[in-house]
Amino acid sequence: MSDSDPAGEPANCLIVIFGASGDLTKRKLVPSLFSLARKNQLPAGTAVLGVSRTDMSDDAFRAHLTPHVKQFARDFDAAAWDDFATRIYYHTADTTSAESFVGLKARIGGLSGQYGTGQRLLFYLSVAPQLYEPIVDNLAALQMITEGKTMCSLNRTHGAWQRLIVEKPFGYDPPSAAHLNQVLGRACEEHAIYRIDHYLGKETVQNLLVFRFANAIFEPIWNSNYIDHVQVTAVESVGVQDRGGYYDSPSGGAMRDMIQSHLIQVMALVAMEPPVSMRADDIRLEKVKVLSATRGPGADEMADFTVRGHYGRGSMDGQAVPAYLEEQGVAPDSGTETYAALQLHVDTWRWGGVPFYLRSGKRMAKKLTEIVVNFKHTPHCLFREQTRKLKPNQIIINVQPDEGIRIRFEGKVPGTKMDIKDVVMDFDLVEQFNAEPPEAYATLLLDAIRGDQTLFKHREEIEHCWRVVQPAIDYWKNTATDAPSEYASGTWGPSASDIMMARDDRNWHNP
Ligand code: BG6
Repeated sequence: MSDSDPAGEPANCLIVIFGASGDLTKRKLVPSLFSLARKNQLPAGTAVLGVSRTDMSDDAFRAHLTPHVKQFARDFDAAAWDDFATRIYYHTADTTSAESFVGLKARIGGLSGQYGTGQRLLFYLSVAPQLYEPIVDNLAALQMITEGKTMCSLNRTHGAWQRLIVEKPFGYDPPSAAHLNQVLGRACEEHAIYRIDHYLGKETVQNLLVFRFANAIFEPIWNSNYIDHVQVTAVESVGVQDRGGYYDSPSGGAMRDMIQSHLIQVMALVAMEPPVSMRADDIRLEKVKVLSATRGPGADEMADFTVRGHYGRGSMDGQAVPAYLEEQGVAPDSGTETYAALQLHVDTWRWGGVPFYLRSGKRMAKKLTEIVVNFKHTPHCLFREQTRKLKPNQIIINVQPDEGIRIRFEGKVPGTKMDIKDVVMDFDLVEQFNAEPPEAYATLLLDAIRGDQTLFKHREEIEHCWRVVQPAIDYWKNTATDAPSEYASGTWGPSASDIMMARDDRNWHNP
């Protein structure tokens, strides 16, 4: 449920970012906040306090951010940035030490008074996952809120609230995710916990809800009577970049890093039933229901319906690139996968017998995130001579790049013969609305300030996502003979993935 100001307008607050000297703060969080401020969407009088271990003054922090905001903010303007930067502060603290929080509490109190933000505090946890628990416990111990357990709760009468945004990775297996949920739950009410997934902030992912539920023509065919299978793809051309150490850790690998977190969420939006309203609670309820009905391959199907691989050397844009095992921070004998694919099923009346194929990989042929809904063949073919050419219809939802929706169907080629060819009806989001989609983090930060949880994950969603993928991860771990196969950088991944599709008489959509 949205707990925003009754007028629906976001109120000013103090945003406290833990992990302020990290990558996310400079690449995404501060550039997004600056862009919101540029568009007058950030409530006036909102201030930012970065917290990190590194010793830095306010000015040094602002100087550290400047080149990155210049590079990553969409609409950089030096004067506007200088102005915005005066609202950014920095506080050095060891977040594992309870003592540090005494000073932090005083600093927060001072800034809250200076900006008139009252008890409206947005805490952003952008730190290594092992720091979540001490930070939450320390905040709770010092009652950096007014209302007992509801450290992160709200007080409608006084317009006060405290909210907690938690970054991924949210656990690395089902027990660790459940434990983290418990840690958060003993300090905050669920309605104050914002588990962020930046894929849910992407414009086309949100457009999926509009496409399905604001139109009458798609919903009647959105089921196993018409749909043959669904593909969800999120592939990247980059490798692990400078994150080799993290990626090769117990939280890393394509299955945990991408499929468990982002892709199953996208799949849930494709598969969920229409909610009774667009309120956050109603949407999240439908997502939980569909995720609870989602299952991965059974023990005897793992070999056939899961695939893993890691990239070998290759060439990207004419440049030679190293293999995964040669990347910095990666163990030379690592078993971590940079590519994962698997088949899922949703055991509901609507989706019985319709497989969902999910895949994600690094160093692939291109960067692409798309959902491809593949329809069945017509029940009877009237165009007998053309039969072999006829392709079933597809709805292709391009999440990125080239955001938009494409519908592929058959058309007659003009002429005296009955020649049939597939054609595409194209909705290009940028061209149609003449507007660039906002950065996902900007959308999500503003939603959290407004108190709208629609695009954030409920604790049960997270726990179901882990339940779905963990058997495949365990199977890989316990099957020493089935090490990740190598695929050349710049390709569409291991051949085993194509074989998995061919086994079902299907193939990946590789545009
Ligand atoms: C992150 C993953 O969540 O998403 C990264 O940890 C990945 O490994 C990134 O590169 C991809 O995000 P996007 O928005 O570029 O598709």
